[in-house]
Amino acid sequence: MQKKLISIPYDHPGAGNQSACSTAQAWASQPRDPQPEEKAALIERIKRMLKEQDAVLVAHYYVNSDLQDLAEATGGYVSDSLDMAKFGNEHPARTIVVAGVRFMGETAKILNPEKRVLMPDLEANCSLDLGCPADEFVAFCDAHPDRTVVVYANTSAAVKARADWMVTSSIALPIVKHLKEQGKKILWAPDRHLGRYIQEQTDADMLLWQGSCVVHDEFKMNALEEMMAAHPTAKVLVHPESPRSIVALADVVGSTTQLINASQKMDAQEFIVATDNGILHKMRTLSPHKLFLEAPTRGYGANCISCNHCPWMAMNGLLNLAEVLEKGHNEIHVDRAVGERAKVSIQRMLDFARQINLPGKNLGNA
Ligand code: 13P
Ligand code: SF4
Repeated sequence: MQKKLISIPYDHPGAGNQSACSTAQAWASQPRDPQPEEKAALIERIKRMLKEQDAVLVAHYYVNSDLQDLAEATGGYVSDSLDMAKFGNEHPARTIVVAGVRFMGETAKILNPEKRVLMPDLEANCSLDLGCPADEFVAFCDAHPDRTVVVYANTSAAVKARADWMVTSSIALPIVKHLKEQGKKILWAPDRHLGRYIQEQTDADMLLWQGSCVVHDEFKMNALEEMMAAHPTAKVLVHPESPRSIVALADVVGSTTQLINASQKMDAQEFIVATDNGILHKMRTLSPHKLFLEAPTRGYGANCISCNHCPWMAMNGLLNLAEVLEKGHNEIHVDRAVGERAKVSIQRMLDFARQINLPGKNLGNA
């Protein structure tokens, strides 16, 4: 295992809504990539164990491409965080193995408390989740009782338990529009960039927690403009966790599934992609004749940890997946009472998605 110390800066609203700046640290341990012969044997072993244990593998687009392929080859699923939650909830398997980050495993457990939910590494977290501690968040909500609390999926079960609604990037816009139409004022957490983007699109009254994603925060406007000038016909695909200066240059802004759908549907032959580079595997598989470039994270203002890959998503690998299935380690547990309260905000989102018939990854088989 390779260990990498990562320093995560984040701001959050403190008492009196003043900004406080903190630093969180996370040890990201990335499993080594097995050699080709070892890999083939591991994949066969994992396939067998999934079947024997009535388990299904649900992966996010940002994880290692071997895991994405394995999920699909074994009747599992690869998608964005909304569709992962829906799939896990509807699939009959007794065990759900989530290859992604902690909040995805917790969401699966909250929706399916009777099932066993495993993850290759329980330390796989997210800077948005880490930057929104439940006690501070509850105090923030208590200070603004007139607001409807909307939280992003990238939060702990305890934060979701204090929320009225949970949203993901694929459905945040229609849900906030709907709340605005009902005259609601919103308290939004934790991603400030996504919150600001939704606020600008809907003109809703939104009070924002000041969290951010360590990956998307690193995209650099000037370097992106240079890349666009060098590739004048390229379309720019941007995840809304990116800063405003990056969103302003986008042809398409959307969740991971929405960006993949766009990369398939659009006529362009070249794309610049401003999100985690794990997504390129699916884009390239679906459109092998198109060119996909990673939006730059290096350039003026970059720091030494700049890259396009989430350190926590990178903690998922074939080796720790096999080990978890073999030993039954790394089961997700969520306190029952917290889970029941959190489920209300998640279920509200799932019901809303069904009502509006939100297009998922079916568009073009993403
Ligand atoms: P999606 O819901 O768009 O997959 O995003 C999840 C995420 O963590 C992006 O950084
Ligand atoms: Fe969290 Fe960013 Fe990683 Fe997504 S890419 S899981 S938002 S740290």
